[in-house]
Amino acid sequence: MRIDVVTIFPEYLEPLNVSLVGKARARGQLDVRVHDLRQWTHDRHHTVDDTPYGGGPGMVMKPEPWGEALDAIEASGPQGTAPVMVVPTPSGRPFTQRLAVELSAKPWLVFTPARYEGIDRRVVDAYAERWEVHEVSIGDYVLAGGEAAVLVITEAVARLLPGVLGNAESHRDDSFAPGAMADLLEGPVYTKPPVWRDRDIPEVLLSGHHGKIARWRRDQAFRRTSALRPDLIERCDPAALDKHDRALLAELGWTQGPDGRFGRPGGPVEE
Ligand code: ADE
Repeated sequence: MRIDVVTIFPEYLEPLNVSLVGKARARGQLDVRVHDLRQWTHDRHHTVDDTPYGGGPGMVMKPEPWGEALDAIEASGPQGTAPVMVVPTPSGRPFTQRLAVELSAKPWLVFTPARYEGIDRRVVDAYAERWEVHEVSIGDYVLAGGEAAVLVITEAVARLLPGVLGNAESHRDDSFAPGAMADLLEGPVYTKPPVWRDRDIPEVLLSGHHGKIARWRRDQAFRRTSALRPDLIERCDPAALDKHDRALLAELGWTQGPDGRFGRPGGPVEE
């Protein structure tokens, strides 16, 4: 996969040289190119922003440098292929594991992290006519710029690329993995030593009984999800649950409506 990032703070993307993403780059699995937006300005001050039409606080990023940058990046790729543009913005659609999986299947992503009050709207509108464009928010809070969101999205996407994670199985049980574990939060994990500060580990994990261990892990996932993310229980597909799951949810105060969906009219019971 190729990833281009256009930013006025190239040094903010230095973490892409480290750890999982850095190793994927070193192995040639990921081709990351970070560009300074100011190289596509033509005035002495390398101006990238201007005052907003209609008034109001802050500055807006000018469209011309972005247009030149995106055209140059497109021209640097294979003839006739367009990248997928990812625009980090708090007004985008929420970034989820589902979108990470979708983006991980694309051969070429271009990120356009903005500073100030954002980029002149005409840039996204113009490229959306030619490219696939995703405006993406990493959460309901406002960052000072989109660069941190680029790091987040890149890491979530890169670890899904074939051969990037050591163990091909290791994202099967990820919290939010589509399909896996019925979209539940992952439960607790333990390693040696068996006793630490007088705390031992759940006995079932020492039993060697794979069926019992899998069931225990699933129960833990349901308990945690019920406590911390009841919205995921409400959304979950009842057909993905077995008798044991339904009994556990009933114990936690969940009831099934006429459509089979789970709800908890009385609110949480002791988890
Ligand atoms: N830029 C500023 N805040 C952001 C957010 N929450 N997600 C993505 N990009 C952003």
